[in-house]
Amino acid sequence: MKKVFVIPLTFVIVILVAVMITVTVIESETMSEKEAMVDTEAELKKVVEQGKALFNDTTLGSTGMSCNSCHPNGGTAGGEMMGMKVKDLHGAAATFPKYKNQTKSVITLSQMNNMCITMPMKGRALKPDSPEAIALVAYVTSLSNGMKIEMGEDMHSMKK
Ligand code: HEC
Repeated sequence: MKKVFVIPLTFVIVILVAVMITVTVIESETMSEKEAMVDTEAELKKVVEQGKALFNDTTLGSTGMSCNSCHPNGGTAGGEMMGMKVKDLHGAAATFPKYKNQTKSVITLSQMNNMCITMPMKGRALKPDSPEAIALVAYVTSLSNGMKIEMGEDMHSMKK
């Protein structure tokens, strides 16, 4: 190719690439602006509220009980089961994962919630990645917000 053509052609290509880069940068900036528009705090609050509603939902089980039956006041107060004291759930989420004698294994908070659903409430276990299970974990965890994680602490077990 003649030099006369090569120089203007290179120039045009350089300009084109510059324009493409600018467009991509502007596009990605608008994308992150859109992402920033999502109120992440509000989204979390919504799910915590859904969990709180589920905490009072008797349809999770088949005995007419909700979580609130044994963990009164949304779990903020201590309760009772068959004459035994059940501690309030403040800080409970911050003790998981932990070893449970009932399962003889280390379980997550989600699995603990399911234990209460399947055992005393005689309900069907929630799939761990279902919106219900996530909402219940979010609500129970909200009762430990700001607290120090102490994995394995057994202070929430039944007391005589
Ligand atoms: C019939 C009574 C009863 C109902 C209903 C019940 N629980 Fe429990 N829950 C208990 C008892 C008893 C314990 C203590 C058991 C233990 O320490 O192993 C407990 C413990 C827990 C703990 C803390 C465990 C720990 O080791 O810190 C969580 C979290 C919990 N329950 C969540 C729930 C949720 C969520 C529901 C509703 C889906 C629910 N529970 C319904 C009786 C109940």
